Amino acid sequence: MTRKLYVKTYGCQMNVYDSERMESALAAEGYATTETPEDADLILLNTCHIREKAAEKVYSELGRLKALKARAGVQIAVAGCVAQAEGAEMLARAPAVDVVVGPQAYHRLPKLAEAARRTGRAQLDTEFPEEDKFDHLPAAPKTRRAPAAFLTVQEGCDKFCAFCVVPYTRGAEVSRPVERLLREARDLVARGVVEITLLGQNVNAFHGAGPDGTEWGLGRLIRAFAGIEGLARIRYTTSHPNDMDDDLIAAHREIGQLMPYLHLPVQAGSDRVLKAMNRKHSAAGYLRLIERIRAARPDIALSGDFIVGFPGETEADFRETLALVRETGYAQAYSFKYSPRPGTPAAGAEQVPEDEKADRLARLQALLSEQQAAFNAAQLGRRLPVLVEKPGRHAGQMVGRSPYLQAVHLEAAAEETGQILEVEITGAGPNSLAGRRA
Ligand code: 5AD
Ligand code: SF4
Repeated sequence: MTRKLYVKTYGCQMNVYDSERMESALAAEGYATTETPEDADLILLNTCHIREKAAEKVYSELGRLKALKARAGVQIAVAGCVAQAEGAEMLARAPAVDVVVGPQAYHRLPKLAEAARRTGRAQLDTEFPEEDKFDHLPAAPKTRRAPAAFLTVQEGCDKFCAFCVVPYTRGAEVSRPVERLLREARDLVARGVVEITLLGQNVNAFHGAGPDGTEWGLGRLIRAFAGIEGLARIRYTTSHPNDMDDDLIAAHREIGQLMPYLHLPVQAGSDRVLKAMNRKHSAAGYLRLIERIRAARPDIALSGDFIVGFPGETEADFRETLALVRETGYAQAYSFKYSPRPGTPAAGAEQVPEDEKADRLARLQALLSEQQAAFNAAQLGRRLPVLVEKPGRHAGQMVGRSPYLQAVHLEAAAEETGQILEVEITGAGPNSLAGRRA
């Protein structure tokens, strides 16, 4: 009898990718995906630990799901960064949980679920095994025909920013071998994918084993991807400023398929705060880097991440963040109030008062929204190639993406999904564009 699987994914794109791969691994064991937890035999939560009260939110979700276990045979599995961080603690606190599995052990999930059923005992695997989990996880289900796909090329982080849990939950930086990535990319393209986003917590630190026995950087990997026939667009995320090497910057100049969009978090604009954050770069260093990237690709759209209210941040420090934002000009950005993550170096420090954090966040977001609206408005009247991705809200409407990752609403047929249309931009809102076929 087929068992039903319900998956809920929190957090970043890497989790989205991981969830799909776990889904395929379980599909191979006879699981069919369902959209509702109520009729699932296995409920999988793929969790994120990056921000505020992540673990508490998972525990309260588990509290709600517990009732569903009244039906015989129902299992709950928790994956992702909260699973990794909590480990055995989660089994102790939430007895309804049958499996706790960390991000490097996903290929073992079907066996863990089976073992839990057979023995009636909860299973825990938060190891960092030697083998590459992706060798044992089948590719995304063949039925999915989305034209844009993610491909994890690198995981983990060795940077240890003082606020961040990633080096602890995802472990040290590991890059996947080039040949395997090319094989996976060709498979995706054969299934109709025309845009691939290379994923990694620190993607531009990629240093995978090349087919020639040397280590390849991300720039070189992108050049090889550009040689795949039928792959029209390449993106990558997320990057650290210190890993933007010359070759990667040159790729932005030379590789037509590499889209003019770069998510390059800086976090703060004050050197004092950057130092306390252990970012290992200065504000001026970041601005110089942006200049070099813009020299290579003048129309590049920039995106970033910002933290306000890091311990010790003064009003004057915060104004330097605003100044850096004004000087850079972002097309898009994410900003957060600092929240202490247990086990990270900054967690114990004296906190900036909550109302100051809230005030700074509101001021920063007002500036970033203004920049985003201006960037969108600047596209009015332009002709942009738009990749048609999915149906829009109204009949006859589809949503696509501009090269700058803006959502573009246009009239098109569902059959045109996956095509890149020339679109004249006729409308610009704060979060999206509208256009018509040129
Ligand atoms: N508090 C607030 N924001 C954080 N981020 C990471 N850790 C924290 C934290 N403790 C933000 C950073 C990072 C993004 C993914 O999440 O800006 O770039
Ligand atoms: Fe976290 Fe990114 Fe810093 Fe690594 S580089 S510690 S993932 S914020």
